[in-house]
Amino acid sequence: MTQSSSQVRRTFLEFFRSRGHEVIASAPLVPPNDPTLMFTNAGMVQFKDLFTGKEHRPYRRATSSQKCIRISGKHNDLENVGVTARHHTFFEMLGNFSFGDYFKEEAIVSAWELLTKVYGLPEDRLVVTVFGGDNSQGLAPDMEARALWKRVTQFPDERIIDMGMKDNFWQMGDTGPCGPCTEIHFFNGGDVDVSKFHDEPTSDGLGWTELWNLVFMQFERSQGADGAYKLEPLPKPCVDTGAGLERVSSVLQGKTSNYETDLLRALVDLASRLSGKPYTASQADDDVSMRVLADHARTTAFLIAEGVFPEKSAREYVLRRVMRRAIRHGHRLGIKKPFLHELTLQVVALMGDEYPELVQRKELIATVAEQEEVRFRETLDRGLKMLDEAMVLAKPTGIIEGEAAFKLTTPTGFHSI
Ligand code: GLY
Repeated sequence: MTQSSSQVRRTFLEFFRSRGHEVIASAPLVPPNDPTLMFTNAGMVQFKDLFTGKEHRPYRRATSSQKCIRISGKHNDLENVGVTARHHTFFEMLGNFSFGDYFKEEAIVSAWELLTKVYGLPEDRLVVTVFGGDNSQGLAPDMEARALWKRVTQFPDERIIDMGMKDNFWQMGDTGPCGPCTEIHFFNGGDVDVSKFHDEPTSDGLGWTELWNLVFMQFERSQGADGAYKLEPLPKPCVDTGAGLERVSSVLQGKTSNYETDLLRALVDLASRLSGKPYTASQADDDVSMRVLADHARTTAFLIAEGVFPEKSAREYVLRRVMRRAIRHGHRLGIKKPFLHELTLQVVALMGDEYPELVQRKELIATVAEQEEVRFRETLDRGLKMLDEAMVLAKPTGIIEGEAAFKLTTPTGFHSI
């Protein structure tokens, strides 16, 4: 069953291409002409105007593997990164899309066929969720999706689980196209236990994990002049699906953590070599830090390749925070000299075939990463010295008083990591 992540990606795109979908390249991480979003956070972003009917293209079905960042706004995974086995700031999302063409039936039948027949996942390790309705929004339970899943999977009712707005109604941001969704979840670990479905997976990834989200785009959410949000039907119902390449690869490679896949493990290993510490795939602080380095190096390399540099405003500031967070974790691992550029070069080596912009801007990526680290290490050393002094003064209470705390956070950037 083991398949490389490149094969997983290729199989997905080929499966939908053979079913009449246009294969579309990933859009940039910085969405052009979309002030509502800081970064592309899902595969559907580049197709937003096709769902709402504002734009038309010669195709009504598409498939893509989209580079995504989730660090800001509605979808923000930063605090979970490195701690869980499956959250990232940067990831790739596999998706198939219908712009007023097929709807629920074809989306469900195709997803099931790809997962169980083509990728070969065992049916008894899967469950599905459907939208259970929401009275306050005037939205009924999705009985159609439930009936379709029942027909396609032959699952008993308890393996088709109702979920509310929070989990099974998808929207890109506060405004934009949205709709009820149905998700496919995979059980990692020993004996399959549906009664544990609502438990979070353990930190090493054992338990139920969402693999693929199928969104039935039916509404556009907009904000009126009075500030209130309203849902209006789209001109035609559409489909938008998203499956994280890292998660699908992890399952197909028989791993319980995305960090063990061929997309990320080489980065973790490099972090281990640079720090001279072994990686033991545990929840120990050192292992968490190595995973943070692996994740943040990808975001750093991809954003710099798109011309985003660490600065003080908006997107640039988010990149700076991510880079400084990585540098601080490297510092706590005991890495004494700049290292982030070495990790970004490893990202280029791992992903340059798929994303040529990384190869084209390789030198720029490494230079910007190294310069930022040299600058921040000076600040960090100065800040840590100030912190030591403040701690001495704070004895015996252990409390750093207002002015000293302000001096620490403002010039050092301690608040931003
Ligand atoms: N747009 C579907 C998802 O991100 O899950």
